[in-house]
Amino acid sequence: MAKIVAGVGSSHVPAIGAALDNGKTEEPYWKRVFSGFEKSKKWMAETKPDVAIVVYNDHASAFSVEMIPTFALGCAAEFPPADEGWGPRPVPVVEGHPALAAHIAQSVILDEFDLTIVNKMEVDHGLTVPMNLLFGQPKDHWPCPVIPLAVNVVMYPPPTGHRCYMLGKAIRKAVESYPEDLKVVIFGTGGLSHQISGPRAGLINSKWDKAFLDGLSKDPKKLTRIPHIEYMREAGAEGIEMVMWLIMRGALDDKVDEVYRFYTVPASNTAVGHIILENKHKAAGKGKRAAARKGAAHKGRLAAAAKTTHRIASKGTR
Ligand SMILES: [Fe+2]
Repeated sequence: MAKIVAGVGSSHVPAIGAALDNGKTEEPYWKRVFSGFEKSKKWMAETKPDVAIVVYNDHASAFSVEMIPTFALGCAAEFPPADEGWGPRPVPVVEGHPALAAHIAQSVILDEFDLTIVNKMEVDHGLTVPMNLLFGQPKDHWPCPVIPLAVNVVMYPPPTGHRCYMLGKAIRKAVESYPEDLKVVIFGTGGLSHQISGPRAGLINSKWDKAFLDGLSKDPKKLTRIPHIEYMREAGAEGIEMVMWLIMRGALDDKVDEVYRFYTVPASNTAVGHIILENKHKAAGKGKRAAARKGAAHKGRLAAAAKTTHRIASKGTR
């Protein structure tokens, strides 16, 4: 059975990618940012996930304003880095996991979350920057396959924090009903507080950001009740990206171990936040058995639904 073992929250500031690509990581301004991810890279190297699900938002790279899906799941075998105006970033092509992605799509859609299935997509800094921060700068291949989940936070209305949290729970259920033994880590990216344009450009609200990180660790349900207007008012127009962290959090246990946290201001004009949350190992035995029972029941429902779909499809071709 596949299992989500941990969640990673990380900002995805494009200037961090530019600093990496242009060899500026040792400059004092950037060293402050990158030094906060050294422990995280060690943690990731030790955790060795088989698959990463990366929740991020596209910044008009794969989707234009002509078409913006609310939740888009990458089911392709590979996702090339997007050209964001300076040529594609010099990072490896992201390899997908089409079998697990298709399974998640089936499970989550039958659970009444209407994902858009994407079979061809380029990925921008929203996905590749957190990958660099946690996996370093591999030349040819990222260490594990990745399932991208793009969320609309660029055009009103984005999904609510509660919807994101519940989607995380549905993703967890999907992963735990996948028969292969896979260790999965889920990323929530974006934020923290920042505003790119308008009279409040440059807004950063460290107090609110830190309270959000506290809530993520100890009381995520409280965060699910934050309305969009509060994100905008307290964390700036682009602070709304933080709802994506709630998908990651929903996919974890109610109670988690916070194993690492980092916060620094600024990177470019953004507050950088980072957290690593692990599901509690001590509850693994009991939880595993209960999850296995739940997974078997869920698998039964999926099989029944697949049979129905097959019957409908067969009828249609007659
Ligand atoms: Fe972003």
